[in-house]
Amino acid sequence: MALKMEDIVSLCKRRGFVFQSSEIYGGFASCWDYGPLGVELKRNVKDAWWQSVVRERDDMVGLDSSILMHPKIWEASGHVATFNDPLVDCKTCKARFRADHLDVTPCPRKPSKKAGQFEECSLTQARLFNLMFKTHMGPVERDDDSNMAYLRPETAQGIFVNFANVAETSRKKLPFGIAQIGKAFRNEITPGNFTFRTREFEQMEIEYFCRPEDAPRLHQEWIQARYEWYLALGIKRENLTLRPHEKDELAHYAQSEASTGTTDIEYQFPFMAEPAELEGIANRADFDLSQHAKFSGKKLSYFDPSTNEHITPYVIEPSAGADRATLAFLVDAFHEEEVKPGDLRSVLKLHPRLAPNKVAVLPLLKKRDDIVAMARNLTSDLRRHFAAVYDDTAAIGKLYRRQDEIGTPFCVTIDVDSVEKDNAVTVRDRDTMLQERVSLGQVKSYLREKLDL
Ligand code: GAP
Repeated sequence: MALKMEDIVSLCKRRGFVFQSSEIYGGFASCWDYGPLGVELKRNVKDAWWQSVVRERDDMVGLDSSILMHPKIWEASGHVATFNDPLVDCKTCKARFRADHLDVTPCPRKPSKKAGQFEECSLTQARLFNLMFKTHMGPVERDDDSNMAYLRPETAQGIFVNFANVAETSRKKLPFGIAQIGKAFRNEITPGNFTFRTREFEQMEIEYFCRPEDAPRLHQEWIQARYEWYLALGIKRENLTLRPHEKDELAHYAQSEASTGTTDIEYQFPFMAEPAELEGIANRADFDLSQHAKFSGKKLSYFDPSTNEHITPYVIEPSAGADRATLAFLVDAFHEEEVKPGDLRSVLKLHPRLAPNKVAVLPLLKKRDDIVAMARNLTSDLRRHFAAVYDDTAAIGKLYRRQDEIGTPFCVTIDVDSVEKDNAVTVRDRDTMLQERVSLGQVKSYLREKLDL
């Protein structure tokens, strides 16, 4: 089934993955809340990223910088001057559009395929609109903006301004990188496509510092490593593409002659006409460290003891969106299968690492105290190792389907034989639906091996 946007939104709501923000007040434009299963899924995505780019590498460390930072940072980074989108208004229907998205943004009047399509549409000239959200520090909002602060539009700058702190305290030698996960805010003109483009979102960013001559090679290595990360976590290869940016779409920090540009990892969402960006891997050269050195007056170079040189490192930046990745994993995992004629099952074939629950323990007869006790004890035991849930609120067939729908890789059923005969349980595999009898004492190691977390 080709999923439409409405299917995904209702699927996410029905199963408790994503809710509309402020729903009881009629919602709040482009803001979404992650429900009980969504928060686990997104956390697993972020953990898998952190595991792969920080914990499994010797050349990477982590950081958690603040969202509110000195306003000069955004002058140095170029965001005050250049983080703009061209905006046009329609004088007839009062809608707002991004001038460079007119072809793909429908006019609010139906039926419409693109903005400005009708004779009576009256679009203004494009004018630039800065995407940074502003706020004020302290209780008084001063007219001269002297206590104005921005909500960060990317987590990257928190890393650049901590370069010297981290280099000094971690004693890392080039090449090394700093990773950070955190919220970013952009006053997007046309947010949309569910959690794909929102005004508040989470980024997973790496700034990888290296010698200038190594940057082209490391850029390619990071593109490959990041592409493989999505595949290893189950995204289908045919849905994932690498697209180098054209010269005229490069961000200001990747435009210099020294940069090898930016390559996006794109995913073909079923509800979008074209593949869309999940992550960009840019060669920012020495743009950011040089700018911050200039604006702060502090030295942000690296002393190489082997050559006795001070250099300004180049930076390779793999920058991913946690919300976009979560949406891609969710959509890619969705399957509908005909189990037998007329019997359809929907199943989320999420990678076990990403699945919100790893195992569900289900008693076959909830009126039998001994069966329930065994199931509850097994759940508590498994909980110390995996995300495990207990469920006895429906007949077994329904319970299986419920767990399939939310992507639980294994169900364990306790039956009469478990307590009366063999002290064993039935383990059912989500994808194959095959069942295996496993002795109670072996369940933990069986799951551990199969889940390979
Ligand atoms: N530091 C570089 C940077 O921020 P970007 O391409 O603007 O680059 C990186 O953003 C990633 O952040 C994107 O690939 C996307 O996954 C995510 N992202 C950007 N804007 C977003 C938005 N409005 N809503 C959701 N995710 C967004």
